[in-house]
Amino acid sequence: MLVRMRRLRKNEKIRELVRETKIDVSDLIMPIFVDENIKDKRPINSLPGQYRFSVEKAIEEAKEIANLNIPAVILFGIPKEKDEIGSSAFKKDGVIQRTIRGIKEELGDNLLVIADCCLCEYTTHGHCGIVKDGKILNDETLKILEKIALSYAEAGADIIAPSDMMDGRVRVIREALEREGYHDVLIMSYSAKYCSSFYGPFREAADNKPAFGDRRSYQMDIHNAKEALREIELDINEGSDLILVKPALPYLDIIKMAKERFLVPIGAYCVSGEYAMVEAAARNGWIDRKRAIYEILVSIKRAGADFIITYWAKEFAQMMR
Ligand code: PBG
Repeated sequence: MLVRMRRLRKNEKIRELVRETKIDVSDLIMPIFVDENIKDKRPINSLPGQYRFSVEKAIEEAKEIANLNIPAVILFGIPKEKDEIGSSAFKKDGVIQRTIRGIKEELGDNLLVIADCCLCEYTTHGHCGIVKDGKILNDETLKILEKIALSYAEAGADIIAPSDMMDGRVRVIREALEREGYHDVLIMSYSAKYCSSFYGPFREAADNKPAFGDRRSYQMDIHNAKEALREIELDINEGSDLILVKPALPYLDIIKMAKERFLVPIGAYCVSGEYAMVEAAARNGWIDRKRAIYEILVSIKRAGADFIITYWAKEFAQMMR
């Protein structure tokens, strides 16, 4: 035998030397759910190990996250009041606006604050856009998204992350940010966001279940790949700095295709259902939890993701210490 592949696997030193993919805490983004209706923190049933935090507790949580050298958090808000157009999302003293200000006061540039920009947590109907006669209206929604994005930028967000999947939202947000002087605020668009069953546990975490119908008329059809590339290309042309593929594991092919084709940094969102599956299996003793978490995150990086939004970010940082 001239070639023996096993020579390169002989011991940990040689395995480390030839390792093709590396993953580090600096690749990860931790989600935080901020609930205006609670004091302290409250566990989320569908996401074992995850919590909703009050504004004060969210700020403390952000400090802990920064101390673990995780570079960024992404914020989701659960407001006191909802209405037809999600107006509590663009209130100056809204739940996310207060949290952004608090984190920035405490941590400044030591933690990047990403604000998820969408209507679904703030509307009575739970859809990501303005609803009329059972239809989700695109262009009317853009006007609201612009207000939300500007109000997050004004509060001090580093990155705005539109997750609604309306057409043209990146352009509208970018133009507004430029017009109002927020030249340095980044846009991280959920470009290829699929209409996925894996968002299930998030519905309980963020209270954004649609009251009727589903999100198929705006989120992407799971059968399509070329369409994802078109979405990504559009978002780049409209001024997005970073793009996201979501969910992660069922869409590794999309991550890989996007990485090969585009030069912008690409992130993947390892979503609530991906987290919950592993946690449920681990709780039953069916899977080695830590190995599974590590393997999943490595796989997403190996596919080509530059960074990963994951509910395991804190845990991973603690594991690596
Ligand atoms: C809101 C939003 C959702 C997620 C992130 N932003 C929910 C949805 O689109 O239904 C899902 C994240 C997760 O499942 O972890 N637009």
